[in-house]
Amino acid sequence: MEISEALRGRKTIRGFLEKAVPQSVIREILIDAHWAPSSSNQQPWHFHVVTGSALNALCEKIQEAHRLKQTSYDPSKGKTIPAEYVDRTKKLFKQIRPFISSMEGDNKSFIESGSFRFYGAPVVIFITMHASLPKSRYMDIGMAAQNLMLSAHGRGLGTCPIALTLYYADTINACLGIDAESQETLLCLALGHPDNEFPVNRFRSCRDDIDSFITWEGF
Ligand SMILES: Cc1cc2nc3c(=O)[nH]c(=O)nc-3n(C[C@H](O)[C@H](O)[C@H](O)COP(=O)(O)O)c2cc1C
Repeated sequence: MEISEALRGRKTIRGFLEKAVPQSVIREILIDAHWAPSSSNQQPWHFHVVTGSALNALCEKIQEAHRLKQTSYDPSKGKTIPAEYVDRTKKLFKQIRPFISSMEGDNKSFIESGSFRFYGAPVVIFITMHASLPKSRYMDIGMAAQNLMLSAHGRGLGTCPIALTLYYADTINACLGIDAESQETLLCLALGHPDNEFPVNRFRSCRDDIDSFITWEGF
């Protein structure tokens, strides 16, 4: 696949087929992720790959934690952020709405309940990083995550990066035996075969005009 085609063709998948992804394929995808650049080549990522009964047990624990805590999605995480960012979230929700309306619930409950069960993906990969590392290493984690998503896309698989479920990071850590003192759980990635019949998977997010994101100098 040509690189620009892969970059522009990848999109978030929120519905998966009940079809296993062979461990050998996941390993190849993780090798691609591992080829991401990192600060001083420190390779600060660790991938926890969860499937089958372990994933089912984790999902149940997350549901239980959610029933107790009822944490709700807040795009600004309680902070005041510039209106343009809030507006883009609103735009996303408005544009995705028609694709969700054929299903039960509103946008927020679809995204929340979907995220908390990893949209039914057969595999979920949690990326952790040593807690002592500086926050600048989050860049490296982002690069590995993007490599992972593009590698999956190139193999006909779909991914959904999920941060919402990290509201229940304590539950995830406890279930997966991640020591929160030394490891920070930064991102969940749902992975599987896209269900192309699933209405929300027909949705394609847009991007604002590139010109307002670039400052050219010296041209
Ligand atoms: C760090 C990160 C966290 C995200 N968390 C969630 C999430 O919790 N639930 C969800 O449904 N989508 C989540 N997304 C997907 C974004 O909504 C999606 O990437 C964005 O709308 C752009 O759409 P696209 O990926 O299809 O291009 C997340 C994406 C990123 C990069």
